[in-house]
Amino acid sequence: MKLADRIQHLGTETVFAVSAAATARAQQGYKVYPFHIGDIDLPTPPTIVAAQAKAIAEGKKGYCPPEGIRPLREALADDVGKERNLQYRAENVAIQPGGKPVIGKFLQTLMNPGDEVLCPSPGFPIYESQIEYFGGVCKHYRFVPTGSGFAVDFDYLKSLITPKTRFLIFNNCQNPTAAESDQAEVDALADLAIKHNLWVLSDEAYTELRYDGKKTCYLSAVPGMQERTVILYTFSKKFAMTGWRLGGAIGPEPLIKVMSQLNLNDESCTTQFVQWAGVEGLRNSDTLIYVKQMMGTLQQRRDVGYDLLNSISGIKCHKPENAFYLFPDVTDAMTCKGFTDVNAFATAALENASVSFATRKHFCRPLPGETRQYVRLSYSGISAENIREGLGQLKAWIES
Ligand SMILES: Cc1ncc(COP(=O)(O)O)c(C=O)c1O
Repeated sequence: MKLADRIQHLGTETVFAVSAAATARAQQGYKVYPFHIGDIDLPTPPTIVAAQAKAIAEGKKGYCPPEGIRPLREALADDVGKERNLQYRAENVAIQPGGKPVIGKFLQTLMNPGDEVLCPSPGFPIYESQIEYFGGVCKHYRFVPTGSGFAVDFDYLKSLITPKTRFLIFNNCQNPTAAESDQAEVDALADLAIKHNLWVLSDEAYTELRYDGKKTCYLSAVPGMQERTVILYTFSKKFAMTGWRLGGAIGPEPLIKVMSQLNLNDESCTTQFVQWAGVEGLRNSDTLIYVKQMMGTLQQRRDVGYDLLNSISGIKCHKPENAFYLFPDVTDAMTCKGFTDVNAFATAALENASVSFATRKHFCRPLPGETRQYVRLSYSGISAENIREGLGQLKAWIES
């Protein structure tokens, strides 16, 4: 079969292969400890569930505008604006079936073949896939360990800029490192974007999932950025709604119009009754009570996972202050077990301890000069008890 040439540039989320391997092992009768995927096993807030049932009962099941129903666009404009201290209107919002579609639509709207895009590595792999699929060039920037976490290697990022650089993709509260930029760093990134006239995709999938209750410093909120930034917003993580598929692009009106035209071409519209549920999620303050409970549960899991990982010989892990990913350095544990390839180490961990996790290699191409090996353990889909049990087995295997 002769496929279109461009298909060879389309990447994937290779962590789904880890998921398949975990399922295969479970089918062999093993109890598998699932740390591989960023799905959430906690319930969607009842306010949202009830609103969806009501919307269906009321017959809100047909096509709706490609850019989304007006009440949801207004609610999202208000909510995102309030959190970031910015003014947005419904016209700045294009509702999407999840956050992921914002990436491709942003690039299709603005990027020409050969344009260079600054994007994180490790980082969400769909950036790399979509940039290359649409003919752009990934210029991966990197992170450095700080002792208490990771930070953008700013000098390295600056060194990647050429006259062809047109975009910056930035993901504060980052998947997978949990790196979080403070105000000074987002200011410096904003200066850079303005100086080099870059468009910015600000992936804010996790920015409202903070454990200390403090607000994130938003690149999108720095003066001069609103007009050059598209925000990727998603209901998936904050409201435990990964499979519902609801998100949005928030940005300058002319871009939003084109992105909505892409919606019309691709999906016609985002599922209508899911959008009505989203309105309730944003407008009913009770929803936040459930989000707070969810964060409490995730924090408890994080603490259990953090303590146990650090008790394993050859593993070092920082404590993430956001999202739900632990990103430990496993170099010494690998050496001790005789591994040089981190994916082979992960496969052996599944075979010997039934613990399933992703590795740095699942998050964009590794960069030259990387010497340390990392894995990512998500604790969003596993109970504290199973974290204890699973990491206990991992420890027993590594230390045997
Ligand atoms: C950094 C980041 N951005 C975007 C997404 C997309 O989320 P969704 O399409 O489920 O809303 C994810 C999902 O894991 C993510 O980790």
